[in-house]
Amino acid sequence: MPLVEIRSLTKIYPQGESMLGGKSRGKNEVRAVDDVSLDIHSGETLGLVGESGSGKSTLGRLILRLIEPTSGSIRFEDRDLLGASSGEMRRQRRDMQIIFQDPFASLDPRFRVEDIIAEPLIIHGNSHGSANDADVPPSSRFSRQGALTSRARRARVVELLRAVGLDESILQRFPHEFSGGQRQRIGIARALALRPKFIVADEPVSALDVSVGAQIVNLLAQLQRDFGLTYLFISHSMPVVRYLSTRIAVMYRGKIVEMGTTGQIVERPQHPYTRSLLEATPEVAV
Ligand SMILES: Nc1ncnc2c1ncn2[C@@H]1O[C@H](COP(=O)(O)OP(=O)(O)OP(=O)(O)O)[C@@H](O)[C@H]1O
Ligand SMILES: [Mg+2]
Repeated sequence: MPLVEIRSLTKIYPQGESMLGGKSRGKNEVRAVDDVSLDIHSGETLGLVGESGSGKSTLGRLILRLIEPTSGSIRFEDRDLLGASSGEMRRQRRDMQIIFQDPFASLDPRFRVEDIIAEPLIIHGNSHGSANDADVPPSSRFSRQGALTSRARRARVVELLRAVGLDESILQRFPHEFSGGQRQRIGIARALALRPKFIVADEPVSALDVSVGAQIVNLLAQLQRDFGLTYLFISHSMPVVRYLSTRIAVMYRGKIVEMGTTGQIVERPQHPYTRSLLEATPEVAV
């Protein structure tokens, strides 16, 4: 059974969005995602590549139900996400998170690191204990509502910071005090807070310098091993995608035009667009 099962998923925007942010005139609906069917298996990284505007982000956001599809179906662990009630969807969301491209825009500048990472724990009244809560007596670990106490919550935040290569010295600092790579680590810690099974990483290293990006890519690979994560990894960069991915799907104008194991795609690309992508990117070790 696949972790994520997508069938005939379609998202049509009545009018396209121009690069300038304005709406273009006339009847030019955009089939941002056009009849896409694919499975994502537990523990794998499915790399999603394609040119700008091909529908990668739209597909990633549809899977998390951050936007609603025009038609089609999405199942997560064999549960129908589109038919889910808001309560069911709320529970489901804990298992599915997103890491964004821009670590500057994705962290609220008014909040301290501790509050940014703890926010999902508070919103979800989280009752996920952890091994490192062992020093907190069980009776005081949770409030009566089932939420983590502030002490247990801080312990969890520190545990998350360490998992992403940071430490508790930064708990009280603000996002603007950090570099892009450090901010991306904070965003990743936040995404991990609820122990998700599935993460959509939407160009998580595109805004970073190559060497910093490579460190984040290695961190994502490490976290996948440590926490058994499944990724949909969206990127323009073929070298990064082939390094991380179990399989690769190639998107072109809203459709998946080619999908296979990383070896198949890299060694025997079938679609002209895939070939041009591979030709455009020399082999670079990450
Ligand atoms: N909210 C929206 N309203 C109208 N059109 C949209 C909207 N969001 C996306 N689109 C259009 O849908 C298409 C797919 O966009 P999407 O952002 O998914 O592409 P992408 O592959 O992620 O591109 P990039 O690599 O630049 O991030 C584009 O033509 C885009 O203009
Ligand atoms: Mg995008």
